[in-house]
Amino acid sequence: MSHPSAISPIRWENNKLVLLDQRYLPSKHDDYVCSTLEQAAQGIADLVVRGAPAIGITAAYAVYLGFQQLQQDTDYDLTAALDELTNARPTAVNLAWAVEQQKQILNGNSSDISGKLLENAKHIHQQDLDDNIKMGDFGAGLIEPGSRVVTHCNAGALATAGYGTALGVIRSAWSENKLEKVFASETRPWLQGLRLTAWELAEDQIPVTLIVEGAASSLLGRKKIDWVIVGSDRICANGDVVNKVGTCNLAIMAKHYGVKVMVAAPTSTIDMNTESGDMVDIENRSSQEILGQNYLDNEAVSAWNPVFDVTPAELVSAIVTEKGIILQPDKDKMSALMASK
Ligand code: MRU
Repeated sequence: MSHPSAISPIRWENNKLVLLDQRYLPSKHDDYVCSTLEQAAQGIADLVVRGAPAIGITAAYAVYLGFQQLQQDTDYDLTAALDELTNARPTAVNLAWAVEQQKQILNGNSSDISGKLLENAKHIHQQDLDDNIKMGDFGAGLIEPGSRVVTHCNAGALATAGYGTALGVIRSAWSENKLEKVFASETRPWLQGLRLTAWELAEDQIPVTLIVEGAASSLLGRKKIDWVIVGSDRICANGDVVNKVGTCNLAIMAKHYGVKVMVAAPTSTIDMNTESGDMVDIENRSSQEILGQNYLDNEAVSAWNPVFDVTPAELVSAIVTEKGIILQPDKDKMSALMASK
């Protein structure tokens, strides 16, 4: 049994939602405090908080904040605010999942809607931490001693309630002395790998070697990698995996070089209502995230910035959830997992 990381990106303090501002890590450690639903939605849209489970937890608390706003101002349009919150980032299904859970309380007949909303947000928060630790142990069980692994983006404590999905597996495998080497790709353009994954692994004294994404094929081809280990923003009913753009590149290369691909994600990331990855709304962010201050006056240069991609199920060796593991996922195995207790 492994121990949770000390990093908690989301706190509930004095009736306020406090987010560790991930835009400036690791050089600056600031809190972003939300007293309204709108502040939380803006924080999600601006990547103050990011990573599918962390976005879902934030949204659950945000619905509670919105309900408080409605109590104070009967003209407050909570329905419109919930739509704004759900659309803050379209790809990570945990966001819509958490809002939907809270809507069921809003639309129910409890005499204490406010208390129930807060209780459920805290439950979603704690459940995510518990699930990460389970996934860490399940995933580590697939890893042979002496393994060399690579991860992409940040699917760690910062992207969840704590501990992490992909990094939870890496933390557990490390604590079981199974890992010889951990590589992380820097993850353009927001550098979640460089800024967040490397920082949080270093905080836990887990050595990590960064690569630029362009070095991935050299890494898989020349450095005897055993596993690509990633998280997910949405896993479709057929096992297709939506995750940070660049994940599919790694999976295609992994097939070429005989490397296995593990996806660690809680069942709150599984979307049985979406049949396959081609039906998922892939978030496109501003071209400025790529261009920066370059070509400001040059209309001949533009940038395309889809921030997620779809890895077909056939390229995935294992999906690890809190309920258990699916090897070589497909529609039937996904349905059986979701039907299990
Ligand atoms: O754009 P981001 O930083 O929110 O993207 C995050 C990812 O792609 C993660 O891999 C995914 O959300 C899984 S987090 C446990």
